[in-house]
Amino acid sequence: MMMVAQAHVGLLSFTSCIPCVPLPCRLKFGFTKHKTLTMATMSDDPIREWILSEGNATEIRGIRSIGGGCINLANRYDTDAGSFFVKTNRSIDSSMFEGEALGLNAMYETRSIRVPKPFKVGTLPTGGSYIVMEYIEFGASRDQSALGRKLAEMHKAGKSGKGFGFDVDNTIGSTPQINTWTSDWIEFYGEHRLGYQLKLARQQYGDSLIYEKGQRLVKNMGPLFKNIIIEPCLLHGDLWSGNITSDKNGDPVILDPACYYGHNEAEFGMSWCAGFGGSFYNAYFEVMPKQPGFEERRDLYLLYHYLNHYNLFGSGYRSSAMSIIDDYLRMLKA
Ligand SMILES: Nc1ncnc2c1ncn2[C@@H]1O[C@H](COP(=O)(O)OP(=O)(O)O)[C@@H](O)[C@H]1O
Ligand SMILES: *[C@@H]1O[C@H](CO)[C@@H](O)[C@H](O)[C@H]1NC(C)=O
Ligand SMILES: *[C@@H]1O[C@H](CO)[C@@H](O)[C@H](O)[C@H]1NC(C)=O
Ligand SMILES: *[C@@H]1O[C@H](CO)[C@@H](O)[C@H](O)[C@H]1NC(C)=O
Repeated sequence: MMMVAQAHVGLLSFTSCIPCVPLPCRLKFGFTKHKTLTMATMSDDPIREWILSEGNATEIRGIRSIGGGCINLANRYDTDAGSFFVKTNRSIDSSMFEGEALGLNAMYETRSIRVPKPFKVGTLPTGGSYIVMEYIEFGASRDQSALGRKLAEMHKAGKSGKGFGFDVDNTIGSTPQINTWTSDWIEFYGEHRLGYQLKLARQQYGDSLIYEKGQRLVKNMGPLFKNIIIEPCLLHGDLWSGNITSDKNGDPVILDPACYYGHNEAEFGMSWCAGFGGSFYNAYFEVMPKQPGFEERRDLYLLYHYLNHYNLFGSGYRSSAMSIIDDYLRMLKA
């Protein structure tokens, strides 16, 4: 145990100095008015059609484009029945938005932390797809302890009858995230999280060294989960500061999930980009008690996201991922 604790101190000081790199896609995409939508007639615009029927509006008063997204065009529709948030993408089928809607809905159904209620997903007659959801007016408050408490309430309420996974695969950044239902968490995390990213690194960079060592860690990580019972909890899956905000009342809001049912501790895998402080964790653990060995697993959960960043953004993240693997191999004598 002594050795484990010391190794952890080393890992912690190492990981805490890795900067959170904002996604480069934010710089690449400009925002233009979505002319085809505003000029379309009702019959060839399923978004307008939905808003004016099931959306309960009789009049669309304005459509405004919203910046800040990475991948899709975002618009706010103001109507006499309130505002709707709409994302469109002209070049993909509806599966990405269907995944997002399923995730948002699963989180919404827990009635814990606030997320936009998803209303409708569909395809556009000109090709591409869209999602309509609740528009949330954001506020400025960042109440860390409310965030910790509400997130823990979501983890506690979001139970799965099918084990670890989700009904659909989704994406983490733009990397596919495989959610095949699996009854054993260690197997799920080893194969569909770490294993998937390791294979990708080997495929795209020919990095067989990180692949081999990473797989050695996967095969030997069992002891890190000793003496705990792991229940599948509903996770946001991509929780970092860019996806955390608050509403006008100051209540925390989380957006853009990559949901699946997993070990609750995996939710902190992006923590180096999330700015979680002491009051966040204290509030969290009041609702979801900290399990033995939490600290020793923390870097294992960062590792998935470091590997993903390595695969998405290149070798800057390789050494971070590699040091975590090396430290664990040493700690586990593997
Ligand atoms: N439900 C919502 N209500 C209001 N604004 C939202 C909502 N969801 C996202 N936004 C804002 O819209 C912008 C783009 O959304 P985002 O989900 O990042 O798009 P993308 O799928 O392209 O990454 C962001 O600036 C975000 O703050
Ligand atoms: C529209 O009204 C119906 C009936 O009152 C309600 O069930 C439904 O949730 C409303 N839709 C939206 C998007 O608010
Ligand atoms: C749509 O999605 C694709 C694939 O994710 C992406 O490359 C493209 O930039 C997207 N954008 C728009 C606005 O259609
Ligand atoms: C949430 O994070 C993802 C990347 O992990 C990003 O693509 C997305 O734009 C973020 N969402 C918001 C609402 O900013």
